[in-house]
Amino acid sequence: MKIAVIGAGYVGLITAAGLAEIGHQVICVDDDTRKIEVLNSGGMFFYEPNLGDLVKRNQGAKRLEFISQVEVALEKCPVIFICVGTPPLENGDADLSSLELVARRISEHARGYHLVIEKSTVPVQTGRRLQKHFGTYGNNPLFQCDVASNPEFLREGSGVEDFFHPDRIVVGVDSERAAGLLEEIYHPLLRQSFACPVHENCGNRPRVPFVVTDINSAELIKHASNSFLAMKISFINMVADLCEAVGADVEKVAEAVGMDRRIGAGFLRPGVGFGGSCFPKDLQAFVRVGRNSGCDFTLLREVERINQSRIDLFIKKIKDELWVLRGKRIGVWGLAFKPRTDDVRFSPSLAVIRRLLAEGALVRAYDPQAMEKAKAVVPEIEYCSDAYAAAEGAEALLALTEWEEFLRLDLTKVFQIMARPLILDGRNMFPRARMAAHGFEYVDIGRGSPARKHLQMVP
Ligand SMILES: NC(=O)c1ccc[n+]([C@@H]2O[C@H](COP(=O)([O-])OP(=O)(O)OC[C@H]3O[C@@H](n4cnc5c(N)ncnc54)[C@H](O)[C@@H]3O)[C@@H](O)[C@H]2O)c1
Repeated sequence: MKIAVIGAGYVGLITAAGLAEIGHQVICVDDDTRKIEVLNSGGMFFYEPNLGDLVKRNQGAKRLEFISQVEVALEKCPVIFICVGTPPLENGDADLSSLELVARRISEHARGYHLVIEKSTVPVQTGRRLQKHFGTYGNNPLFQCDVASNPEFLREGSGVEDFFHPDRIVVGVDSERAAGLLEEIYHPLLRQSFACPVHENCGNRPRVPFVVTDINSAELIKHASNSFLAMKISFINMVADLCEAVGADVEKVAEAVGMDRRIGAGFLRPGVGFGGSCFPKDLQAFVRVGRNSGCDFTLLREVERINQSRIDLFIKKIKDELWVLRGKRIGVWGLAFKPRTDDVRFSPSLAVIRRLLAEGALVRAYDPQAMEKAKAVVPEIEYCSDAYAAAEGAEALLALTEWEEFLRLDLTKVFQIMARPLILDGRNMFPRARMAAHGFEYVDIGRGSPARKHLQMVP
């Protein structure tokens, strides 16, 4: 099938390359000509495991091309996936201006039948608005369209894997034609009948559930899913605080709680809170949708409040150890909002760093992938060439993104090069016993009494 994917960001590029890999002819459009130039010259402008190879292979096979003129793609492709950003406005509403702009371009240029699929995360009833928009502005008599919702659930860092092996594919439609086209597009994924480009041996893969709903419900499924996951994180963070207060171990509590199949083990990891381009904004947008619909969403406002207070709590832990921060040299391991991505949007690490800077601390940071993106938004810190350089001479080291690379570091060396061997672990990345064995002062989250330290004198 000939498919246009509008927006070549994390979701659009993975979707475009994935659809090409399962046999479709895909034109990926982005109005940022710089990104299109990078992609057409064989480069990538963000880090996502497995994606570069997938893009190159499908470009080489002539199943995937990149352009910046939407009208060219509309001429060739009856199916359009909209994957543009929907960032938060000041008031928490989703900013739908990019989506609306794409809709305008479609109504100006499209001829014949098109299936317009919203893959961007949008508030419930956006599909209805799109239908109304096309009814009002699609004044070309040759233009006919169906609108569908197909929310995306991929996770940055494992986005390619998630594309090929989703838990479910949800489509919101109001015509059989739209449902049929979407089933045809996703047929190889639903049957898991493609040669997997990620795993050499996937084994017997079960069929993927195909959930067909009305458009409103599909839109709601996405916001409800992300809000529920965010709720799990805030819940375990609340429990972690109690564990710390009473001397219990949140890791053990979370492990046993998660063994209950009704609850599940995922998203029960305490820390400095959730960030990224999805959870914070989707939660806010869902709260706004609830409010605008007269529903009591106090529960989710609390989820948000607890998450924001994680940063205050972590700063308090730092100050409990270092007292005055002005002039103190502090190392930071990790800038991305989570490992295996270079995305720093709403990263808790950057939130902590901004607070440290406001208090006059000298911050030296390292991240395996996210330094360029972080530099663009927080230029005023020192960026280090590796994790050891960030630790060198530091009076405290903050572990804020759980990259595997940090687990493999030579901790004896880290101990020797720090001015004070104090590690504050915002992700409970390291086992306490290991840190104690190396002689570190070690502060973590909810794993028993606070700041249980090794008693060795600081050299
Ligand atoms: N990033 C994720 O993990 C993730 C997961 C699920 C859903 N989503 C949702 O998917 C959507 C896209 O997210 P993303 O992270 O890929 O965003 P992104 O910012 O990485 O990418 C959006 C892209 O759209 C392009 N764009 C904007 N306006 C355009 C226009 N008028 N024409 C052509 N291109 C245009 C931008 O240049 C950019 O490259 C959002 O609604 C997001 O909430 C994201």
